Amino acid sequence: MKIAVLGYGTIGRGVYEILSNPVTDYTKKIQVSYIWIRKGKEKALPEMCDDFNIILQDKEVEVVVELLGGIEPAHTMILEALRAGKHVVTANKKVTAQYLKEFLEVAKEHHVQFLFEATTGGGIPWVRAVEKVKRIDEVSDFHGIFNGTTNYILDRMYKEGAEFDDVLKDAQQLGYAEHDPSADIDGLDIGDKLQITASLAFDCIAPNDFPIFGIRTITKNDISFFKNRGQVVKLIAQAKRSNNILSCCIEPVVFSKDSMEASVPNNFNLGSITGTTIGELKFYGQGAGMLPTANAVIQDIIDLLEEKNETAFDFSKEVEFCYDKIMKDYIIRTSLPEEKVREVFGENVGEREEYLGNYYYEILTISTKRLHDGIQQLQVYDKTVFGARIHVGTL
Ligand code: HSE
Repeated sequence: MKIAVLGYGTIGRGVYEILSNPVTDYTKKIQVSYIWIRKGKEKALPEMCDDFNIILQDKEVEVVVELLGGIEPAHTMILEALRAGKHVVTANKKVTAQYLKEFLEVAKEHHVQFLFEATTGGGIPWVRAVEKVKRIDEVSDFHGIFNGTTNYILDRMYKEGAEFDDVLKDAQQLGYAEHDPSADIDGLDIGDKLQITASLAFDCIAPNDFPIFGIRTITKNDISFFKNRGQVVKLIAQAKRSNNILSCCIEPVVFSKDSMEASVPNNFNLGSITGTTIGELKFYGQGAGMLPTANAVIQDIIDLLEEKNETAFDFSKEVEFCYDKIMKDYIIRTSLPEEKVREVFGENVGEREEYLGNYYYEILTISTKRLHDGIQQLQVYDKTVFGARIHVGTL
C-alpha cells in the first residue's frame, strides 16, 4: 500500500522511522511514496515533494497521512485528499475536533475513510476502544489523564518537590509540550481530545464551551498540602451522562495515592470508559511522543490495508450539554481574605485550613460551572488562585 505523509515534524519522522525499518508483515506492506513539505524547505529525503497536486493525481497513493498540526493548510488538504478518493489518517486533534463531522461526511460521499486514532491518547487504542464499547453499550462516563506534558509536570512535582516552571522547561526540552505550552497547561490540548471523544461516545457533535481549568497556577506548596493528606493531583478530562444530562469538563482532580490515576507516571495517559454492560475499562500507555503516536497512526493505516475498519459513527443526535446540574466538592487556595471567598461562594464555603502560610478552603456541593465562574471572579484580584476537585468514590 502506497501512502503520502504530509509534514515531517516529530510524528512524521516517527512514521517514517517505523516504516523504514519494518519488522512485521503488516508494516512491510506499507510504502511511504511521498513526504509533502512546504515550499522552500530543503528536500532532505528522496520521497520529499512540495507539490500536493502530484500526490493527489498519483492513483497509486491510497492513503494521505496528515501530520501538519493546526487548522490550515491541514483542513484544506484533508478535504482535497478525501475528494480525490484517498483515505485520510491524521494525528491532528485540533483540526479533527473542529471539522470531524465535515471530514466524515466528505469521506462517506467519496467512499473512503477518515481515521484519527492518534489524536487522543497517543499510542493508546482509545478511539477504537470507544468504538468497541459503543457496539454494545451506552457510554455513561469516560474520563482520564489525556495530556502527557501535564502528567509529567505533576508527577515530577509530586516525586521531587520541584517547582512548576523548572519542570515545564524540562518537558519542553523532552518534546512533550506543544510549541505554546499554554495549550497543555491551560487544558486546551485536552479540550480537543475531550470534544472528539464526547462526539464519538454520545453520537453528537459535542460543543467546546465546557468549563476548563488547567494547572498553570499549581505550586509546590499545593502538591505538598495534598501529599500530606495522602492525595495526588491529576489534570482530568471527563464527560458524563447522568439522568440524561450530558456534561463535560477539564479540571485538576485530587485522587487517593492508592488509586490507579495517582500512580500514572511521566508522560503516560490513563483513559477510563464505562459502558452499561461492560462496566469500567481502563487503558494505559504513552499518550505523547514520537514513536507511540506514530504507532497509532500506523495502526489506522493497517486497518485500511486490512479493510477492517468501517467507522459507523452517527453524529445526528441532538443532545444537550449542561455544566451546572451535577454537584461536586472542591478545594481552592487563594491569598484573598475569607470575606471575599464567602462573597463569591456563599454557603458553599466549608472548612478553611492553613498550610505553610497558604489558605485552603473547601467549596462544597457546587456545580463545575459555578466553581469555575467563581474562580474567575477571584482571579480578578488574585491571579494565583488554584482549585481542584476532591475525588471521593466514583468520579
Ligand atoms: N502535548 C500533548 C501531550 C501531545 O502532552 O499529551 C499529545 O497530544
